[in-house]
Amino acid sequence: MNLQQFAAECRSVLKADPGPEGRRKICKRLEELLRDPQFVKENVNERTSERQILYEDPELGFCILAHNYTGAKTSPPHDHGPSWAIYGQAKGETEMTDYDRVAEPEEGKPGKARPTRTYKLTPGVAHVYNERDLHSPLRRGPTQLVRIEGLNMDRIKRARFDTVT
Ligand SMILES: [Fe+2]
Repeated sequence: MNLQQFAAECRSVLKADPGPEGRRKICKRLEELLRDPQFVKENVNERTSERQILYEDPELGFCILAHNYTGAKTSPPHDHGPSWAIYGQAKGETEMTDYDRVAEPEEGKPGKARPTRTYKLTPGVAHVYNERDLHSPLRRGPTQLVRIEGLNMDRIKRARFDTVT
């Protein structure tokens, strides 16, 4: 399966079920594709930037992205605003932490998030983050991912969250 075929499958799945179940199906399919060396090589490689849009659906708005991070990287806890996201690991490892929402962000004030669990995304593993799910990825070395965003996050402002224990 190539990217255009995968995009077409995402389209038809999301048209039938735009909710968590549809995303779960896409996540399973993405895991299969991440185990296909040809698909990985074609879509995420050393020439990929940190955030490269491979496909953006003109009707439904979802995006398939490739990410090539060359070094370690940390991110604060965040959700994806009105969007969901699927993180698929192609190479390397992402240490992911999930959080409970302790306080909502307010005007000019970050929200509060409490870590609940940490787990590893390894090549061939993908994970769905639904709307409002808070997480933070940590990369200790070079990593490559294929991600799907329900909406292109380039156009969405993210709320800030501070970590509390
Ligand atoms: Fe995220």
